[in-house]
Amino acid sequence: MYFRDLFILLFNFQMEYVEIFDTTLRDGEQVPGCKLDSKTKLVIAEQLDLLGVDVLEAGFPISSPGDFKAVEDISKLVQNARVCGLTRAVKKDIDVAAQALKPAKRSRIHTGIGTSKSHMRYKFNATPDQILERAIAAVSHAKSYVEDVEFYAEDAGRTDNEFLARVCEAVIKVGATVLNIPDTTGYCLPEEYGSKMKYLKENVKGIHKVRLSCHCHNDLGLATANSIAGVQHGARQIECTINGIGERAGNTSLEEVVMILRQHPSLNLDTRIKSQMLNSLSQLVSDSMAMPVQPNKAIVGANAFAHSSGIHQDGVIKKRETYEIIDPKDVGVTESSIILTARSGRAALAYRAKNIGYELDKLQLDKVYTQFLIQADKKKEINNDDLPKIIEASNI
Ligand code: KIV
Ligand code: ZN
Repeated sequence: MYFRDLFILLFNFQMEYVEIFDTTLRDGEQVPGCKLDSKTKLVIAEQLDLLGVDVLEAGFPISSPGDFKAVEDISKLVQNARVCGLTRAVKKDIDVAAQALKPAKRSRIHTGIGTSKSHMRYKFNATPDQILERAIAAVSHAKSYVEDVEFYAEDAGRTDNEFLARVCEAVIKVGATVLNIPDTTGYCLPEEYGSKMKYLKENVKGIHKVRLSCHCHNDLGLATANSIAGVQHGARQIECTINGIGERAGNTSLEEVVMILRQHPSLNLDTRIKSQMLNSLSQLVSDSMAMPVQPNKAIVGANAFAHSSGIHQDGVIKKRETYEIIDPKDVGVTESSIILTARSGRAALAYRAKNIGYELDKLQLDKVYTQFLIQADKKKEINNDDLPKIIEASNI
């Protein structure tokens, strides 16, 4: 039983759901070198659907015939998630996205425009009123195709809150169902991003009718922290990618936000993600995109459940929870691992020796440990092939 389940049982808490909007196949796939062929996209989409994502952003249909086809094929395939297509606030983009999404059981058009001073001035050479008009026109046009329209205010992280609130209010009036508040450049501090959500909650008429969404980039390593701050201040959707892949330093990583909410039941927030699939999905995305996962990556890195220092190993062998806050099985990792290095102690050596059939008494262990340290100083890691040789060389 999860600690979370126990907490719910004891305190009779009703968890609120945060929707997971996966953009691995759109914001993630637009990274140089991560381009996928259409068959692989379908394999990943199917797994994301089984994982339990609420919304699956399948691509940017106007960007290329290949992306149009991918969004169309994913729309035919996906059984549970809502399939979403990205557009600019441009009529033709919206027409094409609507076409690609047609076969989907449930679809969403994701449209929007930059709202920060820098985007308005340098990208669009437009006044705030002109941007407002384009936002309204885009949402209205998207509404002529689908009920569910998500509006993004690009670079909302650096957008003046008052103007952002004006834009949000205007697009709600014409039917936006979700408001995406992207920290496009990964600039915000968690408190700042959280306050932005709070400001919108308190100052936008009609905000109760829509879902606020966090879309954070990781330029300062704050994407996950900002998304959590967002949901602590009222957002109920997080946009994220497997392994945190995405533009520049990446997007919020799906596995991190899911497990943060699960490990902190006092937040009273949860997702519908089947966390036992996280490790295999991480490997699938990493292999398909030839994008290795850093070994110390939270939740899915190769070392996330590996212990190598003597003090930690001794604790984990006695009781796993001394140094692990997550049961590895909950994220699809078979078991924690005890790595033998020159920093390991006797407890780890005895544990690993026992695992391969050698029960050592105290005297034997002392002798083997001396031999072990000599070898471990020469070699980075002592493996199961080395261990019998070390034991035999110890004359016990
Ligand atoms: O980072 C961003 O602002 C985006 C939008 C297109 C949603 O990816
Ligand atoms: Zn983005």
